[in-house]
Order: sequence, then C-alpha cells, then structure tokens
Amino acid sequence: MMRPKIVVVLAMSADGKISDGSGSPARFGSAADRAHLETQIAQADGVLMGANTLRAYHTSLTLRDPRLLDQRAARDQASQPLHFICSGSGQFEPAWRFFSQPISRGLITTSQGALNAQAYDFDHVLISSTSTDSSEIGWTELWPQFQNLGIHRLAVLGGGELVASLGAIAAIDELWLTVCPCLIGGRAAPTPYDGVGKLLKETQSLELLSHRIEGQEVFLHYRVAHPPANPVVVAPPAAAALDLQLGQSPPQTE
Ligand SMILES: NC(=O)c1ccc[n+]([C@@H]2O[C@H](COP(=O)([O-])OP(=O)(O)OC[C@H]3O[C@@H](n4cnc5c(N)ncnc54)[C@H](OP(=O)(O)O)[C@@H]3O)[C@@H](O)[C@H]2O)c1
Repeated sequence: MMRPKIVVVLAMSADGKISDGSGSPARFGSAADRAHLETQIAQADGVLMGANTLRAYHTSLTLRDPRLLDQRAARDQASQPLHFICSGSGQFEPAWRFFSQPISRGLITTSQGALNAQAYDFDHVLISSTSTDSSEIGWTELWPQFQNLGIHRLAVLGGGELVASLGAIAAIDELWLTVCPCLIGGRAAPTPYDGVGKLLKETQSLELLSHRIEGQEVFLHYRVAHPPANPVVVAPPAAAALDLQLGQSPPQTE
C-alpha cells in the first residue's frame, strides 16, 4: 500500500513527557531544538498535528531559515509544506493565528468533523468515512489522497494521541526525539506515544540511526522496525536522497 513516509519529531522531558497535564504549549526545548524541528519540517511535503496540539499552540511552525527555503526551492518543493490538522470533532476557534498564517491548510477529519469545520479556511479537507468508530480517522483510506496532494514525506509533530493512532497501524517510519534537561511529571501529562498502549510482549522495536549531544540536549533518531506484512513505503527521489544525507545504519554520532 502506498502511503507517505512518516517521520515523528518530538521534544521530551527527561522523565518522558511532551508537555504538562494542562495541555500547555511545549516550549521547554532550546533554540537548537527549534532549529532541528525547522530542519525536519523543511524536508517534508506536509506536516501533521493533532487537534489538541493546535489547541495548545493556536499556530503552526512556519519555515523562516533562508538556507532551508533555498533547499526547498532547489527540490521544487513549495516554500512551506502543507499543514494538516487531524481532528475527529472539527472544533476550533476562529481567532487562532493558524487560520491567518500564510500557509496551505489541510484538515483530516470525519464526516461530522467536516460539517463542524465548514466555517474554517482549510484548502484541503480529507474525510474518513469508513471507520467503524465515527469519531476515529481511518488512515489507510486516506493514503491515496495524500499521494494525490504530492505528500510523499509527512512530518508528524505530535501530540501523543495522534502519534499513537498512527503507531497502532504501523504507519510510523522514523522518530526524532530530543531529550531535554527538565522533569515535568504528572499522570495526566502527555507522552510521545499515548493511546491505549501496548503490552510489553507487543512493544515496537526501534533501531537507533544517530545520536547527537548539543548543549544539554540529546537528539535521538530512530527507525521503526516494521514486520514484512506492514505497508511498504514508497519514497520519491527527493525523500530517498534525504535518507542518504541523514545516514542509515550503523548508528552515527553526529
Ligand atoms: N514536546 C513536543 O514536541 C510536543 C509536540 C506536540 C504537542 N505537544 C503537546 O502535546 C499536547 C497535546 O497532545 P495530545 O496527545 O493531548 O493531543 P494531540 O495528539 O495533539 O491531539 C489529539 C486530538 O487529535 C485528534 N485525533 C488524533 N488522532 C485521531 C484519530 N485517530 N481519529 C480522530 N481524531 C484524532 C482528536 O481531535 P478532536 O478532539 O478534535 O476530535 C484528538 O482529541 C499539548 O500539550 C502540546 O503542547 C508537545
């Protein structure tokens, strides 16, 4: 099955949290982590965030680094990737800056969510209609629409519920985790991979591709090991070239 290559990019506290329990925007990473995030976004045709992440930030990160913008132009990519929000409910606030940012916006939603979101300025609305749970996105039926929109590489920027829903169908290919020097704690605080979780005997294996220490932060890059029966990723030439630049095995110290 053809689907985009999916790369998750998250910053995490040393105790494994991506924010606090009150849904605050996660601004505990350093300037180096922000630059790292921008670099990952620049390599993507699309970015995807869960609705709670948009509810936390009210905005999406746009590319500003002229070097990254030049690299996208050289690859014939639009200056900004398409920014998708995943929301079963389609419930947002019109005042959020996201809706006036100079970007193309996409909504991944259900039939009811699409009705609720009619007033919002989305350029593309991808509706999942075959899921047995009418509030859940059925990702596989949407992959051809990503292909039609030219989305071959998708950067998933959180949060933990969205990541877990993609992980549940083995649709995550790589994971970038920045371990930040702070402790957050709290049972209700989101983690990189929430959802219902897995039993230990079902845990997903990761292969460490690279690790780098910058200042007080550790940048970890993993490949997710997929069993052969899971979807085959079709990467276009640009994404394949990026993989070579990022390096594969053995694990690299950057
Ligand atoms: N440290 C970091 O790098 C980082 C990155 C991103 C976010 N965060 C933090 O993470 C927190 C938000 O994370 P979160 O886990 O609570 O939420 P989330 O994953 O951002 O969003 C969850 C929401 O997305 C929609 N959604 C996700 N998967 C879906 C599916 N399969 N089917 C239907 N709808 C789906 C639903 O929206 P509806 O409710 O509209 O139905 C759901 O309630 C915030 O505090 C944010 O600051 C941290």
